Order: sequence, then structure tokens, then C-alpha cells
Amino acid sequence: MDPVEKLRLLTEKALKGGGDARIESQHQKGKLTARERLSLLLDPDSFQEFGMLVTHRSTDFGMDQESFPGDGVVTGYGTIAGRSVYVYSQDFTVFGGSLSETHAQKICRIMDLALENGAPLIGLNDSGGARIQEGVVSLGGYADIFYRNVRASGVIPQLSAILGPCAGGAVYSPAMTDFILMVEQSSYMFVTGPGVVRTVTHEQVSAEELGGARTHATKSGVTHFCCKGEPECLETLRSLLGYLPQNCDEDPPSLPYEASDELRPKLNQMIPAGANQPYDMKEVIAEVADEGSFLEVHRDFAENMITGFARVGGRSIGIVANQPSVLAGVLDIHGSQKGARFTRFCDAFNIPLLVLVDVPGFLPGTDQEWNGIITNGAKLLYALSEATVPRITVITRKAYGGAYDVMNSKHIGADLNFAFPGSEIAVMGPKGAAEIIFRREIESAEDPAKKLEEKVAEYTEKFANPFKAASHGYIDEVILPDQTRIRVMRGLKMLRNKVVRLPRKKHGNIPL
Ligand code: HXC
Repeated sequence: MDPVEKLRLLTEKALKGGGDARIESQHQKGKLTARERLSLLLDPDSFQEFGMLVTHRSTDFGMDQESFPGDGVVTGYGTIAGRSVYVYSQDFTVFGGSLSETHAQKICRIMDLALENGAPLIGLNDSGGARIQEGVVSLGGYADIFYRNVRASGVIPQLSAILGPCAGGAVYSPAMTDFILMVEQSSYMFVTGPGVVRTVTHEQVSAEELGGARTHATKSGVTHFCCKGEPECLETLRSLLGYLPQNCDEDPPSLPYEASDELRPKLNQMIPAGANQPYDMKEVIAEVADEGSFLEVHRDFAENMITGFARVGGRSIGIVANQPSVLAGVLDIHGSQKGARFTRFCDAFNIPLLVLVDVPGFLPGTDQEWNGIITNGAKLLYALSEATVPRITVITRKAYGGAYDVMNSKHIGADLNFAFPGSEIAVMGPKGAAEIIFRREIESAEDPAKKLEEKVAEYTEKFANPFKAASHGYIDEVILPDQTRIRVMRGLKMLRNKVVRLPRKKHGNIPL
């Protein structure tokens, strides 16, 4: 056959994946094909494919009679907002997107190129797992990918969209990447599926309930983003990348920004007078960040802690904040894990951190203690202490006890620490403190309630304010709330060229 004609035919076949019927079935499930996804994800006409004609090599179980050019994964590079990315997109219409030796090799090639060229790696996952006909060769292929995920960790951003099944050991590649995005009702992740669960633990559970997007967004925290459909998921990937640098040696991109009036008077009214009244820290974030720039990460998981990217004056920052409207913003196991992982990502990729503090302390109780609030709280403390990116703290109200230290205090290396005039920086709340240290005096008073009130007022005056901390230099400046954005902007400018080197080590030993 004429080679040009042969190329045309092979290309045509490759572009069709598993054929029209399977594409139709994919659409029926509300899913896009591997190539449709790439065309939504990447800039128009930017995709350059590799390995379109690769086929599997197995001959067992009649596999020699069936092969598809591309072998169930579309791989290559392209651009997003003009910036280079490497991508693989599994094609469920070819052997259920299952991973064969050659399928794995194609993914590994893309991973190697991404790492060597310092550009983000994006995986669009939609796969029935190991290619059953290939046995251990397929398992080896997975391990080759896992190994590369770890090599690339902290060097280039790695993002995983789960757009169909992702089960068994296959979950561990996405789990080792920086961010996971899932789609409600059409994607799921679990180590063992509902059938095995039924046999082993006798629990009746659907795939969606066991490992669907909502479950992982709210219960396990495995996914960072829970999207309504594939287009939303791919769009989220695009915007997420806009906050990130290409690799750990670069700074994140800055958007042009025209300075205007940066006073934010709304902030003066935002913090309630009563120490126990809730308010929404996301409203504070909206005032401090550039308009509409906040992209929340892990929105539905451990909502007492807020994490996300934003821009200030066009510059990308990471925000870690207590949320007083959920569990009073207390630090618990999940909130600490969430804050720690996000902090480490920002630190690895030169994204300055803004920490907003309103925290009553750590959550008490057997559940927290027995499940390791000590080890998990230490993760956040460790991650922040270790971070060498510019770090700015704003205490909006409470900063009590150990949580004061943990939430980016000056003592653990924060660069700039601000506090609002009404904030309370103390070992504990005034009432609790007065009840302990003046117990005898209160009990023996004629009117114990009045005495308690007096003692609370005395403690508040002395300790439950930011001035004691400011007098020690632990707070650089007590600022009016409307000044926050100005101070953060100036601080980021001042810290632009910050360089801190950690003591030489192989790696630290974060309490995992
Ligand atoms: C080969 C597979 C396959 C697999 C699906 N197919 N999974 N081929 N290896 N792992 C093929 C089917 O034969 C079928 O081919 C096509 O893909 C679509 O599959 P359906 O079953 O028709 O689709 P659906 O009903 O949507 O169900 C999807 C599914 C199911 C839930 C993923 O296919 C399934 O359970 N597959 C097996 C999953 C599994 O056990 N994988 C191994 C897990 S162990 P035709 O020709 O009919 O279109 C593992 C270990 C990884 O992955 C370890 C890493 C360390």
C-alpha cells in the first residue's frame, strides 16, 4: 500500500479510538472522549501528539487479533494560556482505557519530557485499571508511573483529573500528584470496589457513595475539586494552572495590575465585637485579594480551615485561613492536614503565603486524641516552620494557645505579622483564664459572678489584646482592618527577593 495512504488510514483509525459504537456509549454515560477532553483543555491547535501509532504487544487471550493504534491513551504536549504543558488522556473506548505495557510506556515518556523540560504534567484518567490480559507487565507499568510521580514531586506541578473509573492500585498515581479533580456522578476512585467491600465487610454501598466525587470532596479529602461536569473540570484545570509556576525554579506568573485605592473600609465592620460570634473569613479574603481571584482548594473538606490561591496586585499567593463560621475555626485533624499539604505545595513552588488567623485552639475530645491530633497538628506546625517562601500573617480576632504558635507566628519564621486592634493573643480566652488563675478568689467572693466578671475584665485588659504581643515584637504592626490589603501588598513587594536556606539535610522527617 502507498505509505501515505497507509498513514492516512492508520491516523483515521487512531482518531476513532475504539470505534463509533464505543464513542456513542461513552457519550451516553455523559462522558467526553479522550480527544474531546484535550481539545477543551488545551489552547486551540496547540496539541502535538506522540505515539499515535503505538500498539500493544500481547498475544494471549486473542489479543493478537485486536489492536488499536494509540493503545488506549493519547499523549503529547500543548499549551494552556500560551504556557507549555505535557498531557496524557486515557481513552476508555479502547480496552476500557486499561493500562498495558505500551500504554504505560507512553505515559512515562510524557512524564520524562515534562520533568526534563520543567513544565506541568496533566493526567486525564479514565481507565478500567491494569490490562487484565497482560498480568504483571501491567502492574510493572503502574509502578514505573508511580516512581516518576515521586521523582517529579516538588519539581513540576502534577495535576490529575479523574473522569471515569480509577480503582485498585491505579489510584496511587493521582494520589501522589499535587491536585486531584473529580466529576460528580461520572468518576470514582477506590482501592477496592463495592463488590469486594460487600464480601469483606458486609457493607452495602454504591460506587458513587464509596468513592464518588462528593464522597472524596467531603469525607476523605482525596479530591481537591468536585466539579459538576467535565467542561467545568477542564476549565478548573486551566484556571488552577494560572496561579502556578512551570516548575520549582520559576516564579508563578503575575498578571498586570493597575494600582488603585487599596483601602478596604468594609473590613472595619466585618469582625463581630463578641469573641464567639461567627463571621465568614471568605468575605475577609474577598476584600484582601484582587477582585474575583480567589480559587478555593478543598472547598468542601475540613471547612474550618480555608485553603486556596488568590492574587494580590496581580501576584499569585496561597491563603491558609481559619474559618470562624465552621466549628469556630478550631484546628482539628483534617483541618491541620489540609493546611499542611497546601502550605507545602506553595512552598515547593515559590508561592507566597498569607495566613489569616482567628483560632480558638485545638479541638478537644477522644476522637481527636485517639486519631492523632498530636501528629496531625504537628504536620501544620512543621509545614509552616519549614516554608521559606514569603510568609505574612494577619490575626483578625483570636489567636489562642498552641494554635497561636502554629498559625504562622513570628517564632516559626513568619516574615510579617499583623493584628487587628480588637484581636486577642493569649494562652486562652479571658473567661477560661480567669476561672483558672483566680478560682480561689472568685469562689470566696461575696458575689462570685461579679468577681468573675471583674477578673475577666482584668485579664482582657492585660493579656487578651494584641498590644502585649506587639510590645514583645511578636506582632510587627497593629493595623486597622481597612489597611490590610495595603499592608499585604507592600509586604509582598518587600519580600520579593527573600532567600532563606534550610540547614543541609537529605530531607526532613515531617510527622506523617
Ligand atoms: C482489559 C478492560 C478492562 C481491563 C475494562 N475493559 N476493564 N479490558 N482490562 N482492566 C474493557 C471491557 O472488556 C470492555 O471491552 C470495555 O473495556 C468497557 O468495559 P465495560 O465493562 O463494558 O464498561 P463499564 O460497564 O462502563 O464498566 C467499567 C468498569 C469494568 C467498571 C471499569 O469494565 C470493570 O470492572 N473492569 C475491570 C476493572 C478491574 O478489575 N481492573 C483491574 C483492577 S486491578 P469491550 O471490548 O466490550 O468494549 C488494577 C491493579 C492496578 O487495576 C495495580 C496498580 C499497582
